[in-house]
Amino acid sequence: MSGEGTQDSAQIFATMKEFIDFGEQDVKNLVEMAPLMQKHQQRITDYFYEVLGKYPPTAKLIEGRIDQLKGTHAVWFGELFAGDYSDAYFEGRWRIGMAHVRIGLDPYWVEAVMSVIRTMSLEALAQELDDAAAVAQKHASLLKLLDIDLLIINLSYQEDRLARLTDFTGMKRKLIENIIRIPKKKD
Ligand code: HEM
Repeated sequence: MSGEGTQDSAQIFATMKEFIDFGEQDVKNLVEMAPLMQKHQQRITDYFYEVLGKYPPTAKLIEGRIDQLKGTHAVWFGELFAGDYSDAYFEGRWRIGMAHVRIGLDPYWVEAVMSVIRTMSLEALAQELDDAAAVAQKHASLLKLLDIDLLIINLSYQEDRLARLTDFTGMKRKLIENIIRIPKKKD
């Protein structure tokens, strides 16, 4: 996991955290939310796999292993509120991204199911806190982190696609990247 692409991705991770202004207050908010959100983890995880079970392309990938996946999902959920968003967090999230790349899952399913997490976490927080401003502030921190998670998963897909093209064509990675960046003529 120490290829050229991963190094670039780690840098992108750092820049994106800065770009979205993910800072100390967000870390504080996330850690404070932990006990509140844990109360809803099981329900959120159960619904997550219920949705994935409804569509044949996702259902076939989780069939027969839902209980095991619910376990890894619970760990993922807990880490959102654990307060460590360092390079170790990035490495862990990168590995999760690659797990999805490996099974041949189209990335738009990941994008779509993240939406379920966003919605359910907002509902959970609104149930736990009476103060609308506090809900908005805390949920904003969680949204930033969920977006970071998704960004890392997308980077791992991107990395895999570039690596495949490089391996398959024998072309240099930089050349492929340059081809991707060539501006398109207007139709
Ligand atoms: C927000 C989006 C998602 C999150 C946070 C998530 C989380 C996780 C985590 C933490 C793992 C364990 C990875 C590891 O072994 O270290 C995993 C694996 C897995 N996920 Fe997801 N997942 C997401 C989307 C999906 C979707 C859309 C599917 C579609 C079926 C899916 C199916 C799987 C499968 C089959 C595995 C096992 C991969 C393997 O065999 O190694 N996940 N997921």
